Amino acid sequence: MVFSRLQEDIQTVMQRDPAARSRWEVLTCYPGLHAVWLHRLSHALWTKGFKWLGRFCSHITRILTGIEIHPGAIVGRRVFIDHGLGVVIGETAEIGDDCTIYQGVTLGGTSFYKGVKRHPTLAHGVIVGAGAKVLGGFTVGAHSRIGSNAVVLKAVPEGATAVGIPAKIILAEPAHTDSQEQLAKLCDKAGFPAYGVTASDDPVSQIINQLIDHINAQENRIDTLYALLSQSGVQCPERKDSGVKVEHFDI
Ligand SMILES: CC(C)(COP(=O)(O)OP(=O)(O)OC[C@H]1O[C@@H](n2cnc3c(N)ncnc32)[C@H](O)[C@@H]1OP(=O)(O)O)[C@@H](O)C(=O)NCCC(=O)NCCS
Repeated sequence: MVFSRLQEDIQTVMQRDPAARSRWEVLTCYPGLHAVWLHRLSHALWTKGFKWLGRFCSHITRILTGIEIHPGAIVGRRVFIDHGLGVVIGETAEIGDDCTIYQGVTLGGTSFYKGVKRHPTLAHGVIVGAGAKVLGGFTVGAHSRIGSNAVVLKAVPEGATAVGIPAKIILAEPAHTDSQEQLAKLCDKAGFPAYGVTASDDPVSQIINQLIDHINAQENRIDTLYALLSQSGVQCPERKDSGVKVEHFDI
């Protein structure tokens, strides 16, 4: 169980950081990964009542990684803190599964009242750009993106993009997406949008995707034609023997 969670975390980094070259490199050189792992320990201590020990563990983590996560904060699965230096995550913050946080991000509070929710909740799949400050006890909706250096002071809807100081919504939802189902399909198809930039935003990527779909459709039609011809007794040379190097296109 513990081992499979660690593997899942390493796999997450491999998928989301284009610069990650090997699992060994991820295991040894990613402070964000170390911070999340050590936070699990400090959070367990905190919730079991060893408050000082939990706090001390989080302090040691901060010295080692430059990332400060309060032991009371709730961090979901496959959360990736990239680079991480200067990240501060407050006591009542909650980070959903599959969120990505870049260096210099603060999930902070604006009130001094103890025992109330002072820090934000990130729903699943949120990307928070470098240097962004998300301040207050509101929710940042699933799959939304916070631009680098934004200062977010109120709730962000699902799938939205917020930038600026104070942050404003520039895209209410990802391009070509008008339902949760479509959003999930888009994320499955495009994979993780590194640095918050999705393939669907980029016209060149869109054209390449259309070309890939077109090539696949052509390959299927050719295969069907070959099958029909050989069923009708027409001797066709194997596609690979026809003098043209033909291999199925590997997406
Ligand atoms: C917010 C973000 C996700 C938007 O990406 P996008 O959907 O590709 O948006 P675009 O680049 O097309 O920009 C759309 C508009 O928002 C503006 N904008 C984009 N990012 C912004 C930011 N961080 N702050 C202020 N304005 C921003 C653009 O100037 C553009 O404005 P315009 O329409 O008036 O020209 C992206 O810009 C971002 O900040 N990603 C985080 C990257 C990061 O932190 N990387 C760290 C790697 S170590």
